[in-house]
Amino acid sequence: MSKKDQASKIGKYEILGKIGEGGFGIVYRGRDPMLDREVAIKVLRADLASTPGFLERFRREARLAASLHHPNVVGIIEVGEHEGRYYLVMEYLTGQTLADLLDDGKSLPLTRAVELLHPLAEALDYAHAKGVIHRDVKPGNVILADDGKRPVLTDFGLVKSRLEEGTTTTGVVLGTPEYMSPEQIQGKELGPAADQYALGIIAYQMLTGRVPFKGTTPFEVQNGHVSQPPPDPLSLNPALSLDTGKLLLRALEKDPSNRFQSVIGFVNELNQVVDQWISQKANQILQEVQQQMASMNFDNAIAGLDQLQAIAPSAKAAALLNECQRKKEKWNQIQDLLKQQDQVSDQINKMIKAEQWIKLPSKNGGSYAPQKEKETISAWLNTKVDISVDKGLFGFVILFTLVALVFAINLGYQAPSIEVIKSLCSRYPLIFITLLALDS
Ligand SMILES: Nc1ncnc2c1ncn2[C@@H]1O[C@H](COP(=O)(O)OP(=O)(O)OP(=O)(O)O)[C@@H](O)[C@H]1O
Ligand SMILES: [Mg+2]
Repeated sequence: MSKKDQASKIGKYEILGKIGEGGFGIVYRGRDPMLDREVAIKVLRADLASTPGFLERFRREARLAASLHHPNVVGIIEVGEHEGRYYLVMEYLTGQTLADLLDDGKSLPLTRAVELLHPLAEALDYAHAKGVIHRDVKPGNVILADDGKRPVLTDFGLVKSRLEEGTTTTGVVLGTPEYMSPEQIQGKELGPAADQYALGIIAYQMLTGRVPFKGTTPFEVQNGHVSQPPPDPLSLNPALSLDTGKLLLRALEKDPSNRFQSVIGFVNELNQVVDQWISQKANQILQEVQQQMASMNFDNAIAGLDQLQAIAPSAKAAALLNECQRKKEKWNQIQDLLKQQDQVSDQINKMIKAEQWIKLPSKNGGSYAPQKEKETISAWLNTKVDISVDKGLFGFVILFTLVALVFAINLGYQAPSIEVIKSLCSRYPLIFITLLALDS
């Protein structure tokens, strides 16, 4: 066998490529030539084998993990040794890890979270019933196989093989601090409740978008688990119900005896809250959303639909959300146009005030009259009416005076002849104008 052939094989398995690397070594994609199937091979770090007691613990834990047959637990095919390197052959799983899914910091809808948590809880309870505790439940150890429909737990019990016998009291802590139970950090005896705590942290992260305890050092994170209360889940995701928040916090109790009796007990209660919420609240929210949409309160409608989608997404809610967003966009466009119209109107009025020559449409349509002309005409008309009243009065006084004068001039008691009036009118034209005005 050539050196190249040797390098591309581990035991009987052909190495097809590297998948990734973790705390224990490198994981390869391989092929079993006898059964012609793909496998995943975890080749342990060389230095681990020289750690006292490691190999025995590793073999024992691998044997226990291999005894687990569950659709949500990775199948262990073989544990072997090749030229002094130890390896673990597993069922090959394709799909992203739960860590990849949760990486963007967005929360999952409650129904999707329960959909993923339920099989994981079943797998953990199944292992617990067989006396196996995972000890390193974390999103990176969950592969979402079969297009995300089958979450599968990997690395069962592997962490334990790195712990020396009795290290529980020596303070050697292995695992991922973000998902570690207080009892594990304190080096206490671990029971199934430690896996429940870790799954509780995953549930918290799924529903709030972040783990409860973060820090710049592992010590800070561990300190949070041991002595800090987790931040209220509702403060991070207000769409969650009070009950959901309570359930999450119960799974994260510092004292393992205050948590749920079993992992599935925790997830079942979560499931019940979802079912109740869907039957009681979802329809009510849908009705409210439709009312809000009818009164053009699109932001309120969208908030309601977001709440629905955050908890129990449905095709109906998704379609409504689409419609609502489209209508909101159109509504905003209309509002913008109305605003523009107002602005144009304002501008026109300002221009009219500043520039009196602007022509405005007259009320009866068709003809146009200059604004200034209109004002002048109406002012002139008012004045004319006043003048005509004054003129009448004035004319009457003049006429009266005139008649009196004519009588006086014609020596009193004789009626004035037309000749006399004519000669008076030619001498005094004002009298003539007044008589004409009175005539008209
Ligand atoms: N059975 C498998 N099938 C396909 N990919 C796998 C399998 N087991 C592990 N992997 C992938 O191999 C990569 C390395 O896994 P590994 O377990 O070594 O690292 P880790 O989980 O990141 O860290 P840790 O050592 O703490 O478990 C990960 O991307 C993991 O998803
Ligand atoms: Mg792993």
